[in-house]
Amino acid sequence: MAQWTSAVGAAQLARLLKSQQDRPAGPGSRRPPAYRALADGIRLLVLEGRVPVAARLPAERELALALSVSRTTVAAAYEALRTEGFLESRRGAGSWTAVPAGNPIPARGLEPLPPEALGSMIDLGCAALPAPEPWLTRAVQGALEELPPYARTHGDYPAGLPALRAMIADRYTARGIPTMPEQIMVTTGAMGAIDAICHLFGGRGERIAVESPSYANILQLMREAGARLVPVAMAEGLAGWDLDRWRQVLREAAPRIAYVVADFHNPTGALADEDQRRRLVEAARSAGTVLVADETMSELWLDADVEMPRPVCAFDPAGSTVVTVGSASKAFWAGMRIGWVRAAPDVIRSLVAARAYADLGTPVLEQLAVNWLFGTGGWEQAVAVRREQARDNRDALVAAVRRELPDWEFEVPRGGLTLWVRAGGLSGSRLAEAGERVGLRVPSGPRFGVDGAFEGYVRLPFTVGGAVAEEAAVRLAAARSAGGERGTVGRWRRGRSWLEESRAAVPAAGGLQSPGYVRALDLSATTASADTGSGSAGTRSGAASAGVVRGGRRSSTAWRWSSLVASS
Ligand SMILES: Cc1ncc(COP(=O)(O)O)c(C=O)c1O
Repeated sequence: MAQWTSAVGAAQLARLLKSQQDRPAGPGSRRPPAYRALADGIRLLVLEGRVPVAARLPAERELALALSVSRTTVAAAYEALRTEGFLESRRGAGSWTAVPAGNPIPARGLEPLPPEALGSMIDLGCAALPAPEPWLTRAVQGALEELPPYARTHGDYPAGLPALRAMIADRYTARGIPTMPEQIMVTTGAMGAIDAICHLFGGRGERIAVESPSYANILQLMREAGARLVPVAMAEGLAGWDLDRWRQVLREAAPRIAYVVADFHNPTGALADEDQRRRLVEAARSAGTVLVADETMSELWLDADVEMPRPVCAFDPAGSTVVTVGSASKAFWAGMRIGWVRAAPDVIRSLVAARAYADLGTPVLEQLAVNWLFGTGGWEQAVAVRREQARDNRDALVAAVRRELPDWEFEVPRGGLTLWVRAGGLSGSRLAEAGERVGLRVPSGPRFGVDGAFEGYVRLPFTVGGAVAEEAAVRLAAARSAGGERGTVGRWRRGRSWLEESRAAVPAAGGLQSPGYVRALDLSATTASADTGSGSAGTRSGAASAGVVRGGRRSSTAWRWSSLVASS
């Protein structure tokens, strides 16, 4: 059986390769052969998640035609990628992208810092803010007053408290989506909701299409449920979904579930527009795929003039395709652990059965507290506080990062809680490791990818503001100097990571055959510099020597994953 789960066409790959040429590149003077430049370009696309892992590449002849190069050039590039572990091929099945073996994905390590550690460490691991007081206290007091009648029951409500189900249903109806309480199940956070959905629809080995990048904990939840994840690359910047790619994946991979975050996507912050929503629902419906729309961030528009599109479920009036997940975690407080699902009544009944073996139900007191907030208008006031905090934090963080790290690239999202940052060609994993030593916890990009993509990214949440945001950027710059700086990489390792090599090799301007494209670094020098991790004192940790042994040779691949970093 073929090992690919999606495909990239020749024209599409040519377009992606061309788009790299508009990006800043590392220093380079020597010209590698055209095949080398092509291999580097494809490798960078894989590492940055723009071509997913396990995507079938076009046949050599087709790509040669699309790029106007000889077939020999493409064949040599594919061969180079195969040798480096970035491509696998099987006769009759074609060639598909891969990442070198032996690189565990940094999927674990979700331990938040204990309160006592917060004095010395700035924690950018979690995209969640402290409780918006006084609303938490008021909500709990309100809940305590409502508790006595419930205390006289056994307290198990697998579908949620009837009062809260009705309240959530009314809120959808008020948004223009008529909803009955039977269409709502209250869950233990959005995580509990997705867990139940995976149990119901996504049996072991079942395919689940996910945005790439996507929210790290959900990806891991799905992996542990035995799903086969099919990554669908997001469009550049904040452009949201690439509908052509989605249609192709839905058609060809026919996944059982597609999981998307349409509102201020975590980690990119993208907001899908109504047209994208409509077309994705249509594509999912024709593929027979259950479209799970995670609305966890949907109330977090931060700029006053943002016009929120209608919810994804608005484009599925019959309720046959879309399952919506909501949560109080981002708009209010993650410590509540309250989430919900909106779906057709029969789906809700099955989900209630599916969740019963996990947690039987969600704590009554917290449900009453959220119900109190919804019923009194406290929710709206608390969310307004939350938006203001997040907006101030975003603005402070953006200004500080621009000042301290002017070559890092990002687009400023208009809502949500996260900034997705391309770290100037540096390894996000190294930055994360170095950050731990300079008092900064920051999650590296690969946590948000399916198979080791996004090595060049870090995610920065809007959880700190003012002087702390400034200090966070100063520490990020220190982490760069301590571990990630291209020029001082030798303190960690003598060689460069594949990412650094690829970024250095892909030039800023010009076509594949133009001098601009081929003016790239000769990689042989760096790949040959097998290092033994002879770091300077202070950097000589276990992380300092992390080459991958392949074909008897220790390459300079620097796939090192920090297992310490949380990433909510
Ligand atoms: C998109 C998304 N979905 C779900 C969650 C988890 O939500 P909950 O705390 O309600 O389980 C998060 C938390 O960061 C998130 O960003």
